Amino acid sequence: MTFSLPTSKFWNPRVLIVIFVLNAFIYTILLFHSRTFDFVGKWAFNSTRDSKNFGLSEEQCTTAFRGLFTEIERAVRYRKTIGQVRVEEIDISSEKDVATGGMLYIIEAHISLGDHPRMRALATLNAIHRALLTSPVPIPNSEFSFSVNDILAPSPRPIWALTRLATEPEKWVMSDFGYWAWSRALMGGYEEMRAQIAELEKPFEEKIPKVVWRGDRKNNVNRVKLIAEAEGKEWADVRDIQWRDARHVTGYDADSTITVPEHCLYQFVIQTEGWSYSGRGKYLQNCNSVVIIPKRIWIEPQHALIVSSGPLQNFVEIEEDYSDLETVMEELLANPEKAKMIAQNGVDAFRDRALTPAAQACYWRKMLVAWAEVSPKAERWEHVEGGRIGKRRGVDFETYIVEDHDGLFYNLPIRHEAMQKLQSR
Ligand SMILES: *[C@@H]1O[C@H](CO)[C@@H](O)[C@H](O)[C@H]1NC(C)=O
Repeated sequence: MTFSLPTSKFWNPRVLIVIFVLNAFIYTILLFHSRTFDFVGKWAFNSTRDSKNFGLSEEQCTTAFRGLFTEIERAVRYRKTIGQVRVEEIDISSEKDVATGGMLYIIEAHISLGDHPRMRALATLNAIHRALLTSPVPIPNSEFSFSVNDILAPSPRPIWALTRLATEPEKWVMSDFGYWAWSRALMGGYEEMRAQIAELEKPFEEKIPKVVWRGDRKNNVNRVKLIAEAEGKEWADVRDIQWRDARHVTGYDADSTITVPEHCLYQFVIQTEGWSYSGRGKYLQNCNSVVIIPKRIWIEPQHALIVSSGPLQNFVEIEEDYSDLETVMEELLANPEKAKMIAQNGVDAFRDRALTPAAQACYWRKMLVAWAEVSPKAERWEHVEGGRIGKRRGVDFETYIVEDHDGLFYNLPIRHEAMQKLQSR
């Protein structure tokens, strides 16, 4: 890392001392936070060493994960054209299934009954909290609202979402909850899954030379086309799976379920959109396999980094209706060297870079910093009418996370009011 000296108008001895003290201070923090800090050479991201390094500096994040923050930069640009975010755009009191937090004080939450929304919300909060805790420098205060739904009702709200359509420029696409964990039967902890993949991985040539897919055909009409296209083909291992609930599969093909690490035993994997974006895509991109992706309509952060041709090609693009799957598979099987190169490029770009836990912590921090730039400062206190002493807003993350969420997620606003009464006595 290099420290650029201040420009000439600051060449004033008193200020210089301050700057050096400040730099020395930042230096010390970096030393404690990052084993990767290199005094001699120029720092470069090394996934073996850094993939779980949550404390990368902003400069390291920017250098290591070029292109990953495209969605955030776009959201900021869009916001700057329409003006600063207003407080009422963050207020969720009239919404369902959203949570809002300010420096991880949970101000208000509306979460439907059932495991899915609750798990997604908690995973998201934990990931944000981790990115805050491991930040080498303080993150500016801000207040935002996020939703963990696959699809959001149309709204001009600048909400933080898991995905967006091209026609929804107001949405800010956040890091997926799956980078923390997803319910065990579905996926499990992200880092645990990466560890399992690492144990099972084989050299590309030794993998099964077929394309693998498991999924529920009900979720998307194109999935039916995929199943039809692959039916009886020797290059395909494609099966329909039906979920009885979040933990159990059912249907005639229930025995053919395979885990994500087992998908990596095939040379080719397919990412399909479901109700909306493909939560599975980021897992499959952790395999040293060729990822085949039909043309997409749902945008995810890492989409900015996918390359469909040339020497850096890191996935294979096919038609939305899978009509060219057979041609594409025949071509890939006839060119094993090319297939191997695409798989390796995918590993370099995603498994060992943009989709590392370290990169996702960077993503959260970039998002928090970018958001703070275009939105109002978080108010820590609420003003009490007629009084000079304010009430504290929200429940701290630490308390929130240990509560009985089945009951309290619902009651949070009520409980919050009760707490405010106590505090304002
Ligand atoms: C990356 O880090 C590992 C573990 O510290 C080390 O063995 C390896 O040599 C490093 N690779 C490069 C290219 O620096």
